[in-house]
Amino acid sequence: MKSKLEKLSPEFQKILQSASSLANSSGCKIFLVGGIVRDLLLGGGVFDLDIAVEGDAIAFASRLAGRLRSSYAKHHAFGTATVYFKNHKIDFATARTEIYSHWGVLPKVRPAELCEDLKRRDFTINAMAIGLNQGDYGKVIDFYAGLSDLNKGLLRVLHQESFLEDPTRILRGVRFKERFSFKFEPCTQELLKQASSKEVLNLVSPHRLRDELICILKEPDPFKCLKSLNRLKSLYFIDKKVFLDKQAAVLFKRINSAAAWYDRTFKNHRKLDKVTIYLAAILIILSQRKIESLLSKFGFKKGERIIVTSIKKGVGLLSQIDKKKEPYRIYEYLKDYSFEAILFFYAYSRGKHLRKNIEYFFKTLACISTDTKGRDLKDMSLAPSALYGRALQSLLKAKIKKGLNGKEQELKEVEKIFKRLYKKHMPCGGNNPRV
Ligand code: CTP
Repeated sequence: MKSKLEKLSPEFQKILQSASSLANSSGCKIFLVGGIVRDLLLGGGVFDLDIAVEGDAIAFASRLAGRLRSSYAKHHAFGTATVYFKNHKIDFATARTEIYSHWGVLPKVRPAELCEDLKRRDFTINAMAIGLNQGDYGKVIDFYAGLSDLNKGLLRVLHQESFLEDPTRILRGVRFKERFSFKFEPCTQELLKQASSKEVLNLVSPHRLRDELICILKEPDPFKCLKSLNRLKSLYFIDKKVFLDKQAAVLFKRINSAAAWYDRTFKNHRKLDKVTIYLAAILIILSQRKIESLLSKFGFKKGERIIVTSIKKGVGLLSQIDKKKEPYRIYEYLKDYSFEAILFFYAYSRGKHLRKNIEYFFKTLACISTDTKGRDLKDMSLAPSALYGRALQSLLKAKIKKGLNGKEQELKEVEKIFKRLYKKHMPCGGNNPRV
């Protein structure tokens, strides 16, 4: 494993080497733990580091941040700290054991040795560690036969109560199963079914469920995970009425191919937030009110809520642009929707004109703006400035309709527009809209 650590980016190596020498000089043991160990063994990419400290993780992180001249944040309530080095994030946690008072709630923790820290984890493949102290550097520590499960492609819990104590592991398990094309080991499969049938996900706080749902929707093929959960009858954690049928499968497929088309074709447009598009695809069968109340219950961000609810509203009105339309009408209809919503409409609808109109929008209209700004109107001594907003809006309309080319043409046009507006809105002002 040492050779794999040596292949990490220079920044990661610097962090690990500094942490290693600090651990030795301060006499504590530190280990790489969690998903990164699994991913390194699978030969995948590494993004963030999780380090367990047998000792005070916050004190360790603060000293390391000093050595690396980087910033860090501490979270006393959890005995954890995060060091930020260049673009990297390294989480430190005191090795601990967990005591659950009730199913589904966060456990009480107390410091422990690595062996116990690994035992409290979700699956054996996530319960391995890599030594970082000099002498142990790069050594894989595998108390629970995680490596053998990793090689066999098996997900195995470490104890019988695992899914009950932390029901989010149902969602995590399904996510890992689909991501790596693994299987649940038979006993784990049985425990998973039993926990699912007890609807234990209802015991988890909505915010934790939302975070897990977002993780699912960020997987390369979220529908696979959702389908697995559907089979386990576990989508109730979103809402009892949520289910996935053939139509949903088709919609997800169409969203995937629409998003791939967008990414391929519009490299200069901003990246789409696919989570909101998939979320809308799951919720679209519910009423507008229900969607709004679920999004707020789970604590989705305002921007995410706006996108998803606008999609629900918008699909009801799509027939309005499923006609041959002038460019400006297409622009007017779509301009206030997010790109995510528009892409959803594109995937959702089979209307020939609607899809053509949306293609035209993304290709030509989406990023259109005038080169002329309020400052130009001021430089032309046009007044009053209260009319600038309207004038620029009309200029944009003219630009789309007449295909104005270049600022010179725009300035000529906006002067005419301004005169018209002046006459209409300032009837007592005479004919000269200049100061
Ligand atoms: N973990 C756990 N039970 C949970 C969440 C996390 O046991 N409900 C442990 C696992 O050992 C996991 C580690 O904490 O590997 C880190 O969790 P996280 O970063 O959420 O997951 P990763 O395994 O790194 O997965 P991903 O690749 O999706 O980030």
